[in-house]
Amino acid sequence: MSRTVKDFRRIGPETWHDVRTNTTGLGILYTLEVELARLLGGWIARMPELSEKIAFAKVVYEDAEHAALLEARLLELRVAEPDVALLRRRTALILTRLERADDPWEMLAAVFRVVKPALLADLRRHLEGCPPYVDEPTVRILRRIIAEEEQHLELGLALLAARGVGWDGPPPGALWDLGAADGGLVQDVFVGAAPVDVPRPVWPAVVEMLAYDDPMPPYPEDFETAMQRCVHELVFSETEAIDIFGRYVYEFPDLPWQFSLEAARICWDEARHVELLLNVLDRWGGHVGQFPAKAPGYEEFAREAGTLERIIMINVIAEGEVSTDTQTQHRDAFRELGDEFSALLKDYEMADEVFHGQFGVKWSRWLAAQTGQDYEAAYAHAMASLQEFKAQHDEEGVASPIPLVRLGAEEMGSGRVVNVGAKRLLGFTDEEIKRLAATASGTVED
Ligand SMILES: [Fe+2]
Ligand SMILES: [Fe+2]
Repeated sequence: MSRTVKDFRRIGPETWHDVRTNTTGLGILYTLEVELARLLGGWIARMPELSEKIAFAKVVYEDAEHAALLEARLLELRVAEPDVALLRRRTALILTRLERADDPWEMLAAVFRVVKPALLADLRRHLEGCPPYVDEPTVRILRRIIAEEEQHLELGLALLAARGVGWDGPPPGALWDLGAADGGLVQDVFVGAAPVDVPRPVWPAVVEMLAYDDPMPPYPEDFETAMQRCVHELVFSETEAIDIFGRYVYEFPDLPWQFSLEAARICWDEARHVELLLNVLDRWGGHVGQFPAKAPGYEEFAREAGTLERIIMINVIAEGEVSTDTQTQHRDAFRELGDEFSALLKDYEMADEVFHGQFGVKWSRWLAAQTGQDYEAAYAHAMASLQEFKAQHDEEGVASPIPLVRLGAEEMGSGRVVNVGAKRLLGFTDEEIKRLAATASGTVED
């Protein structure tokens, strides 16, 4: 059957979806939302511009949420959980092709000019078949998804227009078929099944990107430029976080979708942190590309192989243990400098950071219990490789009179103040808090 926006085979009101047709169609839409979240998540680290990374992070989060809403409805309509898991292990081949596209702009054009419009049409087709009264829950879900997909189209088309990406060549190949029982999808092939290796993220061409162990130029002497350099580094430490959490959505297909959904939310949080820091950078008179930048966290994530170790390293240690301390210190440092707006933004960032740490504690414990791995051993391994890695790239401590600049270099050092209140929110035990406090210069209740 040729692709049409309306389903002309429906000839009367008696052709409403029965439960089985409904779950078949919803299952196809579910697969597509899952695969799109993975596809764009995996591409974030390969997108060379900040606007695209930020836009993708939001689309990945919303697509992951669409999948979660559809998953909940599938379960309500009596699809068994293992069968739902199988729907995450199939694809429309165009998506695995786009996963490996050579050119990010070609991928962007295909997603927003072909794939998403076709998905939107199928969401509407499915909506038309939902029977009254009994299937209102599906209607409500689809209406919300359609509204957000329309916004994705606008966003994607605006990006394409802004970059002047032209339309040349034929549409990029066959899609899927909402009318077929198997959706025209291929089983056991999916985006992220064999993730594309990206050892270092791609960043804007105006930024000189250094490897984690390359030396950075010496810190500027004057106050203004030192502040700009410090905020520039904060911008890129959040940028590498978007790149990392996009990979979380892309690379961990064996974990429940709830994990991917929460990872996608973190990815979007990090995108908003980049936005807030670009604002801070601008207000302090700096600009992107003013200094070289590094992605040590991303490089460390990419070189660590174990899933459990990766989650402990990034979320339990870097986000939970360390970042919840530095955020408070950064906030207070901005306040000391009289920059109340930056302090306000940082206080919100802190709220996100607590969730990122809780995510780490929750899923690493869950994963260790599921796989029978020894949590303590995995923690020790993650900590040791983080320390070893840090020893290779750590900059000399900066003895600056500017508190914020000093803090930038000292996040795990003895100058650190442990935020005990945040650690309790993360679910750290008194013993763990004591262990952290022993290595720091003091503690604070926040
Ligand atoms: Fe962040
Ligand atoms: Fe974070």
